[in-house]
Amino acid sequence: MQYGYFDDQRREFVITRPDTPYPWINYLGSEDFFSLVSCTSGGYSFYKDARLLRLTRYRYNNVPTDAGGHYFYINDGGCVWNPGWQPVKTPLDRYECRVGMGYMSISSEKNGLKARQTVLVPRGKTAEVTRLELENASDAPKQVSVYSFVEFCLWDAQDDSTNFQRNYALAEFEFENGGAVQYHKSEYRERRNHYAVYAVNTDIDGFDTDRETFVGLYNGFDRPNAVFEDQPRCSQAHGWAPIGSHCIRRTLQPGERVSFIFVLGYCENPEDKKFIAPGVINKEPAHQLLSSFQTDAQFEAAMNELKTYWDGLLGRFTVQSGNDKLDRQVNIWNQYQCMVTFNMSRSASYFESGIGRGMGFRDCSQDLLGFVHLIPERARQRILDIASTQFPDGSAYHQYQPLTKRGNMAVGSGFNDDPLWLIYGVNAYIKETGDFGILDEMVDFDNDPSLAQPLLEHLRRSFRYIAEHKGPHGLPLIGRADWNDCLNLNCFSEHPGESFQTTGPSEGPVAESVFIAGMYVGVADDYADLLERKGDKAEADFVRAEKKAMTGAVEQFGWDGEWFLRAYDAYSHKVGSCENEEGKIYIEPQGMCVMAGIGLDNGMAQKAMNATEKYLLFQYGVVLLWPAYSKYHLELGEISSYPQGFKENGSVFCHNNPWIMIAQTKLGHGDKAFDLYTRIAPAWVEDQKLHRVEPYVYAQTVNGKEAPLPGEARNSWLTGTAAWNFTAISQDILGIKPALDGLQIDPCLPASLPEIRVHRTFRDHDYNILIHNNAGGEKGKIRLEVNGKALEGQIVPAASGKGETMVEAWID
Ligand code: BGC
Ligand code: NOJ
Repeated sequence: MQYGYFDDQRREFVITRPDTPYPWINYLGSEDFFSLVSCTSGGYSFYKDARLLRLTRYRYNNVPTDAGGHYFYINDGGCVWNPGWQPVKTPLDRYECRVGMGYMSISSEKNGLKARQTVLVPRGKTAEVTRLELENASDAPKQVSVYSFVEFCLWDAQDDSTNFQRNYALAEFEFENGGAVQYHKSEYRERRNHYAVYAVNTDIDGFDTDRETFVGLYNGFDRPNAVFEDQPRCSQAHGWAPIGSHCIRRTLQPGERVSFIFVLGYCENPEDKKFIAPGVINKEPAHQLLSSFQTDAQFEAAMNELKTYWDGLLGRFTVQSGNDKLDRQVNIWNQYQCMVTFNMSRSASYFESGIGRGMGFRDCSQDLLGFVHLIPERARQRILDIASTQFPDGSAYHQYQPLTKRGNMAVGSGFNDDPLWLIYGVNAYIKETGDFGILDEMVDFDNDPSLAQPLLEHLRRSFRYIAEHKGPHGLPLIGRADWNDCLNLNCFSEHPGESFQTTGPSEGPVAESVFIAGMYVGVADDYADLLERKGDKAEADFVRAEKKAMTGAVEQFGWDGEWFLRAYDAYSHKVGSCENEEGKIYIEPQGMCVMAGIGLDNGMAQKAMNATEKYLLFQYGVVLLWPAYSKYHLELGEISSYPQGFKENGSVFCHNNPWIMIAQTKLGHGDKAFDLYTRIAPAWVEDQKLHRVEPYVYAQTVNGKEAPLPGEARNSWLTGTAAWNFTAISQDILGIKPALDGLQIDPCLPASLPEIRVHRTFRDHDYNILIHNNAGGEKGKIRLEVNGKALEGQIVPAASGKGETMVEAWID
């Protein structure tokens, strides 16, 4: 069943009915101000940090779902409706929501009144700006009242939803222009130097800022008294629940059009300029902000600027493959989602409350793979931020808070894959940019400037951390968990409510991870190359020797006969072995070890892929493990806490499917790699109802074959799936791979793609690449010409400066 379709020309997904199987959302903002907005106008805004500086309130797990948002109510002669359908849910005569790159536009119609609500966060501004256009399409005059509505949050979203004894007494406001400009200044009198402003660019007929007065104490958002009685109360909130609302009344002649621009902004003042008179806030920053959004022309300019920004970003990697789905996936939605993961990490979505997790060390490092080609300078800063939360011994805080950029004490460290992801991220960055200078940047350890060391030293300690934390089989100790947060081999949690991630010792001396072993081997060559370029031959030799030893350890102790083992538990029993009754085979080591090149020369890699296909692959992708655990295993932890087929216990955990795609390309199997790609890519989703969450972005999981409803997805948007799929398709299948000295052309294509064209901006230079695939679905031999001249090898040397290079490749 369908709820929408792609409009590739406009880079939009068009939702055709509001009652989607789950709220389908979009993200606005790409710098400091962000909004989550659903196709029915639900959602909220925050400045920089979804937990600490939240402008508007949102209640997760609400009934009905997605209640609360930035709404417009229209009262047209007693008929009350919302352009976004919710919350009143008056049936609309027409509804369409266009999900665009950083904007959302809802058009609807009721009784001959047309409304279009377009919302964006303009570039360079700390505000959400909405234009509401109304048109009387009937043949009689209409008297229309519009009520805007936002509900303010008292900034700290965690405290806001728990500390009512204090919070009900806090709210304070100031007003200008008869209430058209509303200043929410709770806590500004004391330690805050910021307030929110909610304004409209027109004279108004009333306003409200007290929720109970506007809505009615026993009413829901679907029945606000002020709107239904068409009578604003001009209420001023003193404590209780602060809202912002404007009432605008207009008479529209047949064919007449009006538009209003609403601004919800975040403003900050220097400490010594907070007030202009006792108790009167300094409104200068708000005035400046509002002056940018007084006219339609200004609004349109902001929209155009946003479009230009996305044209620039998405113009850096484009493919013309002859396959529409692939083109839209690569050129639009996958890269768009990569940018969202850059902004959000795992902090705020409709599944992440914004108060739980901040930025993840491993998550951000991997996300980088998907956005480094888009925003290399910001990727550089991200690397430095992440690295400064590393501990002096090479381990790392698992998470940090975006506002403070400090490591999160509550979760701490002990996830033993974390340090290696930093090396992955830095490798990717240097290959993309050629910026070896980053390795000399002084970076704090543990956010302490007195402990600062060059970034290269951070990498050295990362690698050494694994070298020095090995278990009885010479494999890396797993710590609290590796990539799989739910494989908690040292946890042994027996009490409900304990966190699987922080209970038990941060590391046991026995439990080992074959997955980390694969990562260690996989990162070694690239890292050793960097060391050599920096003149540290001794450390490079050490790294290569470690690689050799670890490869040996995996082949000897990490091989189960038909596939790679997953781990050894705290008793040194095998995990992910045919000897186990459940959880016999796991996806992660099959992907990671083959990606690292282990077993390519001795048949193990091919066997591991055969087993993956036989036991893990099904219609919707490759499940994480099989058979799923049917009971709780104290020695395995959270993984066995989920019902079969969900989350880490045997769903298609989309993040790791690209590892199998890449592994297949290592073996030269283009058809198999691409087949898996299409099984999980949103552009190929057929049944939008079954899939349930947004069909334009990847979700974290799709229910596995052992779940009651295979194919249903959840946890959309914030997942490493975005970055890894982009890596797999762009670098390993289409084969355009940044390397230290240039762009490596190394495709492994399916037979269904006989000819592709790629445009790639690499270090400010444009490469136009035409690839003829005469090899079918298995990797062939490649021959290359650069600007018409034959090239030795596969690396097109990095051009100096701007310009265009033509590359043509034949694969036979
Ligand atoms: C989830 C994991 C997640 C972890 C983060 C677990 O409950 O299943 O996917 O990574 O929490 O703490
Ligand atoms: C989600 C987490 O954000 C990520 O870091 C982890 O690797 C996966 N879950 C798997 O557990």
